[in-house]
Amino acid sequence: MDRPFSLGRPRPPDALPASRALTPGPTFLRSPGKYRFAAPIYFRGFLLPAHLTKYAYMANTILVGAQWGDEGKGKIIDVLTEQAEIVVRTQGGNNAGHTVYVGPVKYVLHLIPSGILRADKVCVIGNGVVLDPVSLVGEIDGLEKLGVKVNPQNLLISETAHVVFPWHRELDGQREVRKGKQKIGTTKRGIGPTYGDKAARVGLRVIDILNPKRFAEKLRERLDENNEVLKALGAHQLDYDQLLADYSKAADRLRPFVTNTVIYLHKATRRHANILFEGAQGTFLDLDHGTYPFVTSSNTTSGGACTGSGVPPNRMDRVVGVMKAYTTRVGEGPLPTENAEISDLLHGMGREFGATTGRARRCGWFDAVATRHAAMVNGIDELAITNIDGLDSLKTIKVCTGYRVDGQLLDYVPADCEVLARCEPVFQEFPGWQTSTEQITSWEALPVNCRHYLLTLAQLTNARLTIASVGPAREQTMFL
Ligand code: GDP
Ligand code: IMO
Ligand code: MG
Repeated sequence: MDRPFSLGRPRPPDALPASRALTPGPTFLRSPGKYRFAAPIYFRGFLLPAHLTKYAYMANTILVGAQWGDEGKGKIIDVLTEQAEIVVRTQGGNNAGHTVYVGPVKYVLHLIPSGILRADKVCVIGNGVVLDPVSLVGEIDGLEKLGVKVNPQNLLISETAHVVFPWHRELDGQREVRKGKQKIGTTKRGIGPTYGDKAARVGLRVIDILNPKRFAEKLRERLDENNEVLKALGAHQLDYDQLLADYSKAADRLRPFVTNTVIYLHKATRRHANILFEGAQGTFLDLDHGTYPFVTSSNTTSGGACTGSGVPPNRMDRVVGVMKAYTTRVGEGPLPTENAEISDLLHGMGREFGATTGRARRCGWFDAVATRHAAMVNGIDELAITNIDGLDSLKTIKVCTGYRVDGQLLDYVPADCEVLARCEPVFQEFPGWQTSTEQITSWEALPVNCRHYLLTLAQLTNARLTIASVGPAREQTMFL
């Protein structure tokens, strides 16, 4: 067995299979050093003393959004990347917008993992991602202009990721128009139609656009069909030569980055590299577990990290859920705790505008029914709570602890999103702290009401709070 024990996972002693009991050896002592993110570590059924946990390596960690996206995943990934060697995106496409501040410079990452902002880390765009090559080249160029090195040593692209074409974007937009009031409010990046083609087995993959002869043929075939559809919809048709030229140029730029990322990641797990899986979107935008049809088209929950990377579940050690101290959603669909007062407050502070589309995000009180559901479907071990400072000015803060619908009290998120839309939140009120938390750098220094609020959110969510964030900067992060 090449990985004797997963050091990072808080696994109760009696749940530890004897076959995986730890024998301290070279692996255990391999990468000593600063380990600020320690989970309780069990050794042969006993809790490892704190002074020994510094020898633990950061385990393979899946980071997911526990709400409706935009939880601050980019910021937390950037902070955790310090401890990781490899950061992998496994699903979604350039519909994501992950904001990271490094000093005064703001970066918004769409397809490239947020780990790219730290030198000597390897970023991987996995097989589960849908990739718009022209947009990706633009993102690489944009980062290079800001002084960030992006080269085939620190960015690897899966040869089996599916490719987004302009007809996917066009169809995305057309479907939205046709849905009228029922529209999803997509980012119009062509994500749904590209995953649709993947499932229908007619998609083109990165490997296809790198082979000029094959690409010329497949493009002709796919474009002919899609132009007929676009014509029938009364939409603008696309030109073959232009498309072939644009995509061939982008493919040539990306060629050196493309590799078999599954094999690369397997080799990395064999040498016990620390891998961080960067989720995009959030639990309630998941194609299976979200508020269907108001969702994105990939599995945003933790399972998506396995299928989207080829790293199997028994190589994953920990799931970190990121959530805001309140709730936001961009796009249509039910949001039980939506509230005008908190929306106005946050928008008035100049925050909660989408990182990808610039749309104002809908805001509401923290929804613990939703985050508890998220903890369940993702297997969240640890929580990072962000944007705590957004609530600094409030006298009282509400938290939704149940839904009332059709005379029933629910403590889970109903599967039918029409039922969810009718749910009335049941609130519990908490006293605010009415002090700025932005400059606070330690948990103990947070106002007592704030600590109480955060620990209650974690308790209601049913996971352990390990990170608290009071601002967008790296320094505005506390570890518990
Ligand atoms: P992501 O998609 O989950 O990476 O989140 P976004 O980047 O789309 O949106 C989160 C926003 O919150 C960004 O503007 C971040 O810079 C910002 N942010 C993250 N954590 C904090 C925090 O603790 N306080 C404040 N004020 N902003 C934060
Ligand atoms: P990050 O990774 C928030 C939403 C869209 C829309 C729905 C479907 O930054 O958290 P799509 O274009 O994916 O077909 O749109 O999903 N959406 C997001 N909302 N954050 C995101 O990404 C999102 N990506 C998609 O607004 O409601
Ligand atoms: Mg975002």
